[in-house]
Amino acid sequence: MTTPVKKVPIHLQSSQNRLLIKNGKVVNEDGIFDADVFVEDGVIKELGRNLIIPGGTRTIDARGRYIMPGGIDPHTHFELQMMGAKSVDDFYQGTKAALAGGTTSVIDFVIPQQDEGLLEAYERYRMTADEKVCCDYALHVAVTKWDAKTREEMATLVQEHGVNSFKFFMAYRDVFMLRDPELIEAFKVCKSLGAVAMVHAENGDIIYENTKKLLAAGVMGPEGHEMSRPEEVEAEAVNRACIIANQVSCPLYVVHVMSRSAADALSDARARGVCVWGETLAAALGTDGTTYQHKCWRHAAGHVLSPPLRPDPDTPEALMKKLVLDGLQVTGSDNCTFNADQKALGKDDFSKIPNGVNGVEDRMSVVWEKGVHAGLMDPTRFVAVTSTNAARIFNLYPRKGVVAVGSDADIVVWDPSRKRIISAETHHQAVDFNIFEGMEVHGVAEYVIVGGRVCVDECQVKAVHGFGKYLETLPYPAYVYDAVEEHEKQPRGVARSEADAKRQHEEDLALA
Ligand code: URP
Ligand code: ZN
Ligand code: ZN
Ligand code: ZN
Repeated sequence: MTTPVKKVPIHLQSSQNRLLIKNGKVVNEDGIFDADVFVEDGVIKELGRNLIIPGGTRTIDARGRYIMPGGIDPHTHFELQMMGAKSVDDFYQGTKAALAGGTTSVIDFVIPQQDEGLLEAYERYRMTADEKVCCDYALHVAVTKWDAKTREEMATLVQEHGVNSFKFFMAYRDVFMLRDPELIEAFKVCKSLGAVAMVHAENGDIIYENTKKLLAAGVMGPEGHEMSRPEEVEAEAVNRACIIANQVSCPLYVVHVMSRSAADALSDARARGVCVWGETLAAALGTDGTTYQHKCWRHAAGHVLSPPLRPDPDTPEALMKKLVLDGLQVTGSDNCTFNADQKALGKDDFSKIPNGVNGVEDRMSVVWEKGVHAGLMDPTRFVAVTSTNAARIFNLYPRKGVVAVGSDADIVVWDPSRKRIISAETHHQAVDFNIFEGMEVHGVAEYVIVGGRVCVDECQVKAVHGFGKYLETLPYPAYVYDAVEEHEKQPRGVARSEADAKRQHEEDLALA
C-alpha cells in the first residue's frame, strides 16, 4: 500500500509564512503613517512601530519607500479571442507582468464565443486561468446577447459562482452590441441580483455608418479608426447609459473612459446624483491619439483600441485631473495585446485591426508618473484610483485595497526615487510592442507581495505558475448599493395634506 502524500498548500510550499516590512510609510486612501507591517500566514497581522516579532522572520527594509496596497487592475483581457485573433498575453504571462508592475489582483472579462452560454464561457475561463495565474483574479462576465437563458445564467453566476458584475457593449454592432430596450432589461436584472452593470460606451450604429463612409472614401489606415468614432460618439453613449441606469436605479460602471467629453458626461451625471463610477486607462493617461498619424503602419496600429486614444494632446492631463477630483474613480489597463502579425489582419482595412493595447505591467508606473510625480495627485489618491476604489466597487474591500490588520497581505513596496525606462525589450509581457516605449517613469515596484509571498524581490520577478486564487465577488457591494439606496430615498412625489390644500386655496383667493 502506498503512503498517502499530504498535500501542502502552495502558498506554504513556496513562501515564508512570516514577513516584516520595516521603516516604511504606509499609504492608504485615507492617509499616510509611519508603521512596520507584520505578515503571517498570508494576512497582515500587526501594524505599528517596535513590534515584537518571532525569530527567523524575514525582514524587508522599506526606508524611504511607500508601503501600499497591491494594485488592482479591474480590466484585463488575457487570451481573448476577438476579431479573428487571440490576445497574446495569457493568464500566466499577463499576471506575471501585472506583478512586475505592482499589481496583485486582476479582474478579467469572460467574453462568450458566438453560441456559447455564459456558464459555459465562465467554466472555460476558470479552467484556463486557475492553473496559470500568478496573482489573484476575479471575473466580470460580458453579456453579448439578450434572451431568457442569459437572464437565468446571470442569476446562477451571481448566486453560485462569485460574479457580481456584467459588461454590456453599446458598440461592436452585429457582434457584441445590445440595443437600448435590451440594456434596460439587462440593467433591471443586474439591479435585482445586486450586481454592477458595466458598459462599453460608444454608439455602435454611428460607428458602423462612419466606417462605411471612410472606407468608401479610401481611408484604410489606422487613422480611420479614431475618425470613425470621434469623442462625441463616446460621450453620447456614456450619457445614454447613465440615463438608462438611473431610470431603472441600477448602479453603473463605465469602463475605459477615453475622452474629455465622455468624462464630462460621466462627472455631470454624478453631480446630478446618478450612481455611476468611471474608469480610465493607463493608455489614456500615458499616450494620445496623435500616434494614429504615425508614418509607420505598425506603430499606428499598435495604438488601436476602442474607444480610441484622442488626437487632442491635452486629453491625458484632463483625464488625470478628473481622477484627482473624483470625476473618475478607477484606472484599469484594458490589457488586450496583439502582435504585429495579428494587427496586420487590418493592413488594408482599419476596421479589421484587432482592438487592444498593453498596460497591465506599466499601469501603476504611468499613473504615478503622470499623477504623483507630475505634482497633480497625492499618494493617497494614487492608492484610491489604482486599488481601493476598485476593491470597494467590486466588493473585495477590505480583504483587498487596504493595508490593515486582517487584510490579505497584498502589498507593494514602492520606491519613488527609482527610475526606469519602459520598453518592449525589457517588459515581462508576451507582446512585441509597448505603447509607452521610451517613457521614463519614476516610481518602481521594488517588492510585491501576494498573500504573504514575495513575488517581486528587489525588482526581480519570482512568479509561480498557478499560485493565484480565484476571488469570489459577492453581490450587493455596500459602497455601491448604499449609494443606490440613498438615491432611491430621495422624495419623488409632492406631499399633500388637507391643511396644505386649505392654506393654498386661501392664498390663491387672497392673490386673486
Ligand atoms: O480595444 C479594446 N478595448 N479591446 C478590448 C475589448 C474591449 O472592448 O474592452
Ligand atoms: Zn470595451
Ligand atoms: Zn515602426
Ligand atoms: Zn476591455
